[in-house]
Amino acid sequence: MPWFLPRLLFTCSLILPFAVIAAPAGTLPLMPWPQQVEQPEGGGSLVLTMPLAIQVEGDNLKESLPRWQQRLARQTGSPDLPVSASATPLNIRIARQVDEVPQPDSDESYRLVVSADGITLDAATRFGAMRGMETLLQLVHNSALPLVTINDRPRFPWRGIMIDSARHFMPVETLKRQIDGIAAARMNVFHWHLTDDQGWRFASRHFPQLQEKASDGLWYSQQQMRDIVSYATRRGVRVVPEIDFPGHASALAVAMPELMAAPGPYQMERGWGVFKPLLDPSNEQVYQFIDTLVGEVAEIFPDPWLHIGGDEVDPSQWNDSAAIRQFMQQKGLKDSQALQAYFNQRVEKILEKHQRRMMGWDEIYHADLPRSILIQSWRGPDSLGEIAKNNYQGILSTGFYLDQAQPAAFHYRNEVWPQGLKEGDRIREGEAAQSWKFSLPRLKGKPLQGSFTLIDAVGGWRGFIDFEGRSRRMVREIRWLSPTQFTFRVDSWMGELQPVLTQAGDNISGYWRIGNVRYPTVGSRLPQPPQGITPELPDEAQLKNNLLGGEAALWSEIIDENVIDVRLWPRAFVVAERLWSAKDVTDEKNMYQRLAAVDSWSAVSVGLQQHAETQLQMMRLANSSDTIPLQIFAQALEPAQFYTRQHLKYQAGHYTQAEPLNRLADILPTESNKIRELDQQVDALIANRGDRKAAQAIRRQLEAWRQNIPLVEPMLTQNPQLRPLIPVAGQVAQISQMGLSLLDAMEKERAFGAREVAKMHQLLDQAALTQDEVVIALVYPIEKLLRSER
Ligand code: ACM
Repeated sequence: MPWFLPRLLFTCSLILPFAVIAAPAGTLPLMPWPQQVEQPEGGGSLVLTMPLAIQVEGDNLKESLPRWQQRLARQTGSPDLPVSASATPLNIRIARQVDEVPQPDSDESYRLVVSADGITLDAATRFGAMRGMETLLQLVHNSALPLVTINDRPRFPWRGIMIDSARHFMPVETLKRQIDGIAAARMNVFHWHLTDDQGWRFASRHFPQLQEKASDGLWYSQQQMRDIVSYATRRGVRVVPEIDFPGHASALAVAMPELMAAPGPYQMERGWGVFKPLLDPSNEQVYQFIDTLVGEVAEIFPDPWLHIGGDEVDPSQWNDSAAIRQFMQQKGLKDSQALQAYFNQRVEKILEKHQRRMMGWDEIYHADLPRSILIQSWRGPDSLGEIAKNNYQGILSTGFYLDQAQPAAFHYRNEVWPQGLKEGDRIREGEAAQSWKFSLPRLKGKPLQGSFTLIDAVGGWRGFIDFEGRSRRMVREIRWLSPTQFTFRVDSWMGELQPVLTQAGDNISGYWRIGNVRYPTVGSRLPQPPQGITPELPDEAQLKNNLLGGEAALWSEIIDENVIDVRLWPRAFVVAERLWSAKDVTDEKNMYQRLAAVDSWSAVSVGLQQHAETQLQMMRLANSSDTIPLQIFAQALEPAQFYTRQHLKYQAGHYTQAEPLNRLADILPTESNKIRELDQQVDALIANRGDRKAAQAIRRQLEAWRQNIPLVEPMLTQNPQLRPLIPVAGQVAQISQMGLSLLDAMEKERAFGAREVAKMHQLLDQAALTQDEVVIALVYPIEKLLRSER
């Protein structure tokens, strides 16, 4: 290539020496999808001669090179040989040398050009080069990669994953692997939740009683934490530590009862939930403790941000203390929120003294706090919208909770910028509206109350929903399943909701599907649409300046080191894409195709263990290395989504540290790819009954499940941990058979009688119930097929 071309390419992509086409989002196996992808007309590829001849100019990335070569070797299966004279060149040119510790405003932009002659990666900084390398590695398949020019930079600067290693301790090696995943997803923050009611994991030099008395021996030494920081730094990942104050403090209370708002004595918390122990904001010793501790934390973690938690404060200890009540009176603090804000102001000053900025959950948001704080929202778009509107900065985590099992598409739709109604809730002349109130009982907590309104409009139905205390949102895909039965879809903080409701006069009954779980409900007609709360949206500048990104969160009540990758990967890539890619990259079908590609890539290239963990636990459950029958059976199932599994354990009195995480539900992927594929085939067949390919694919899959049952049943019988699934196997067989009968009937153009249809619905309704924390996901596509019969 002539010397001037790279420069020309870098400055002006329009006058390329060959015809290029902008690749539509999703045509290459990349995730997150880059900002701009161009391929030469007619395609073409570069076949690699390994190992690559890597040259780096502009910064020192020596330490990264062997790692990149190793990953390329893993991806291509090539042997570890010296670089040859004919090796494919990879020239990495870094424009500006920066400190090796990544910062919140680090420039991560890069430009990757794969031409017939070799590869060039131009980056603003070392961090851009690291992001570009991940893109490059994703492109390598069968020792070749497509000719392509990619210009890329993230939409949001803050893209992280929070891991809770307090509730279940995660070994250092486990965390390093997740950091590899964070970097591979071109994310840049590892938010490390280090303390909680069930354990204090930060080893303190000044207060060794913390780890000695309040960690069950499971803590990170300062050397180990420095090692994690160094490991992350070399991958361009910031580490933000979280030390939770003043609540989530049961473990702290065991070690240092003298700092608490009530005298104790305290015990290690073994249950999961929200507990009473709180630091005493009226005690000066508390601030001295925090000052010393923050000094230690700041020595280990160089990041400018320090997370102080601040969530879920149960104020009873404060309210019950005469001394604290008197303190509040003296300071003119009218309630527990004002007291927490007072405490946070003091903590914020301590952080400032240690050159750290304060970050916390929604509960730290208060007008008395300076605008320099950062709020991580787990309370959702109403809270985040208000934060941004008042010119505080925030990041979004609601909807990105990966421990709350949800389909990847739900997380994918979770836009950071709060969405408005666009006047969709205004009922116009000539439009008829019906409003229904409902109560939605859950397994834990109060029933949810709310109402929804469906509007019969000229262009079709539209509607909105009002959950008590929350702003109104539009629903989508309102469909009448019969003259009296309807459904719609709407995303909520609990996941995607899909009610199936039957109207009888002024009453409705049926169920709300939350994810894949049905929750029975009843409701009644409202005489008119309710008042509702209109979401208050920040303006464009506030959105841009104040919302910095988001974080996936992985709380570990029912996640331990044996299953962590199963819950995080590859689904965290979907969150990564929402935070990196352009706002309009939203095609779900395309996302799932690329997610499948990064699933295998992340196992092969990055070494993530989602498949290995599942396979190992299946061998344990099956008592055999032949796990194929269990795998096939598992494809028809999903773990009960939303927080259903947590709430079932709570109801059973098993929502504690002592609960083993040894069920099939613990290692089932959060959603079944085979079921989603089947669902797509069912859609194709319903749209066109003559689609023989779809019919054949459905038949093949159902036959496979049905024929597998006699093979899996002995496995289920031999292990008490699998025995609760024996009836599930019977139902999978029945439903597979039902699906095959429905296909036969469609092909022979035979209709079922009303009684037969009712019986089939009954069987599906029965099979839809959660059993041993598992849902037969196969129910849903077969139900769709059955409904299409009518
Ligand atoms: C939280 O989920 N309590 C931050």
